[in-house]
Amino acid sequence: MGRPPILPAVLPPVRDDLAELVGYHSAQVDVDVRLNTNESPYPPPAAWREAFVAELDGVAYHRYPDRRARALRAAIGELHGVGADQVVAANGSNEVLQALCLAYGGPGRAAATFEPTYALHSHIARITGTGVVSGQRRDDFTLDPAEVRRVLATARPAITFLCTPNNPTGLVEPQELVEAAVAAAPGLVVVDEAYAQFAPWSALSLVAADRPLVVTRTFSKTWAMAGMRLGYLVGPPEVVEACERVLLPYHLDAATQAAGRLALRYTAEMEARVAAVVAERERLAAALRELAAQVWPSGANFLLFRPARDADLVWKGLVERSVLVRNCSSWPRLAGCLRVTVGTAAENDAFLSALREVLT
Ligand SMILES: Cc1ncc(COP(=O)(O)O)c(C=O)c1O
Repeated sequence: MGRPPILPAVLPPVRDDLAELVGYHSAQVDVDVRLNTNESPYPPPAAWREAFVAELDGVAYHRYPDRRARALRAAIGELHGVGADQVVAANGSNEVLQALCLAYGGPGRAAATFEPTYALHSHIARITGTGVVSGQRRDDFTLDPAEVRRVLATARPAITFLCTPNNPTGLVEPQELVEAAVAAAPGLVVVDEAYAQFAPWSALSLVAADRPLVVTRTFSKTWAMAGMRLGYLVGPPEVVEACERVLLPYHLDAATQAAGRLALRYTAEMEARVAAVVAERERLAAALRELAAQVWPSGANFLLFRPARDADLVWKGLVERSVLVRNCSSWPRLAGCLRVTVGTAAENDAFLSALREVLT
């Protein structure tokens, strides 16, 4: 005679507004050449590693880290000529975007995106209960200022996301477009500059204490530190205070804070990596233009292209040759498109020769 069960037999449903949502994933396949997530193909400098290991030795592991990450924020501020009070640092720029949505979005408010763009802007908006209003780019994926004005005037979004260079298209928004969006926005304009060091201009110079504009950046790409998870924003002190209200206490661990602070000592090495990637990007773009039906000009460390053959078959053919790129062909408006991250010269050669084989 067993006891009657006292534990509930079914799990509760998740929030109604999450029921339809699937997590954000990039297919991870075991291959020799990984060109699917826009990481740096080069590791950080050996001197940074040594400095980081030495710093770890001095971490008081039994104590919480500096909750306000003061030294790191001061170092980032110094890099951009602003005070620490204009910087928020978090676990990747995705966490910064989440803090912005928690602070400025939420139920009854909307965030605007211009598609196709970085999928996490709308995804993070949704998981924070923020409504999403999607404007559309032109057929060539440039952004019409009239479309920006239309969306801002009709939807009155609390947050307007721009992304320059834009992921996954690689296109750089003109400065006038960002300025016009800031002038017309009823709320905060968030310019996601995850790839800005690869591009000819940055919106950082437009940031001011009384302007509703923030610029987000990451250590994952140009700083070659995707494994550490560190990103930040530069914006008005009032926005920084708003983010501090929603971030969890001690969200940024001591090791990550040290890693980022030390990375900034190696700016020249970062710039050399960026220059090498930009040179390779141009070589890759020229070669791809011979092979693909369409290649978009890129200001980032990746290229969007449309092969003349079925993109799913091309993607599979590349994987069979141990090369992984991002298959965007099922994404809205990106039918037939693949995105390749710029790798080392050897990786790019491996990709190009695999692509040649697949296409012929
Ligand atoms: C446009 C854009 N923003 C933000 C991120 C996320 O960066 P992090 O690694 O800092 O979270 C990415 C990563 O691919 C990105 O493409």
